Amino acid sequence: MTSSLQYSPVQAPSHILGLLERLHALSLDEEPLVNNALKDAVQLRNHDVDAGNRQLDNAMRDKFVALDKDKCHFVYQLILATGAKNVVEAGTSFGVSTIYLALAVGRNSSGGKVIATEKEPEKARQAKEHWKEAGETVLKHIELREGDLLQTLHNDLPEIDLLLLDIWTPLALPTLKVVQPRLRPGAVIVADNTISSAVGYKEFFDYVKDPEGPFRTLTLPYSGGLELVTYMP
Ligand SMILES: C[S@@+](CC[C@H](N)C(=O)[O-])C[C@H]1O[C@@H](n2cnc3c(N)ncnc32)[C@H](O)[C@@H]1O
Repeated sequence: MTSSLQYSPVQAPSHILGLLERLHALSLDEEPLVNNALKDAVQLRNHDVDAGNRQLDNAMRDKFVALDKDKCHFVYQLILATGAKNVVEAGTSFGVSTIYLALAVGRNSSGGKVIATEKEPEKARQAKEHWKEAGETVLKHIELREGDLLQTLHNDLPEIDLLLLDIWTPLALPTLKVVQPRLRPGAVIVADNTISSAVGYKEFFDYVKDPEGPFRTLTLPYSGGLELVTYMP
């Protein structure tokens, strides 16, 4: 019998489940380095926002960061529950959460699509390797847009059902504003670490909590906080 600890809602061939386990383990190994880099950058940002952002960018260039496994499971379930077909992932890094998104949209529709975004060429290259290892089940549902997402998401977006914001906090609001004209009424936005990085998310919260605005938001009690925002224009 499968114990509840081993249980996963994700339905996929065993080689993909194995790949995901391997990638999450790599990400956990890097966590102490990532946390130190974040702490240093946040301290610098208090004095000089641009310098702090540049330092974060440099420090994170080669770090293996992935959305926590339980949060990936949540987003996978959310896509199944909402029937989402078109998803934007901001950012992609080594392509771990992208695999969950692709599996879920693929269950909803043979034409389901994840628009993945990554500005670091080496991360994009490794993400593509991981998706190749996962195989056609995943590959056929991913369109990777390489470069600065504030540029690459400007054109040719289908109607978007779900936006995953797993990106440095200064980009959260600008990214939402780029995608907003293409959000379908009832679309959902998921944003990571909204408790632990609440200061960085201030402008984002001011925007989505505007009582006159089209958004409603709820913070879910995942580690660091996970925001579930609905778009109800
Ligand atoms: C937290 S990681 C994403 C992790 C990924 N969602 C996963 O779970 O596997 C954030 C990524 O966003 C990328 N990024 C940062 N600024 C960007 C920008 N302006 N355009 C595109 N990607 C960007 C970073 O290089 C980094 O790889």
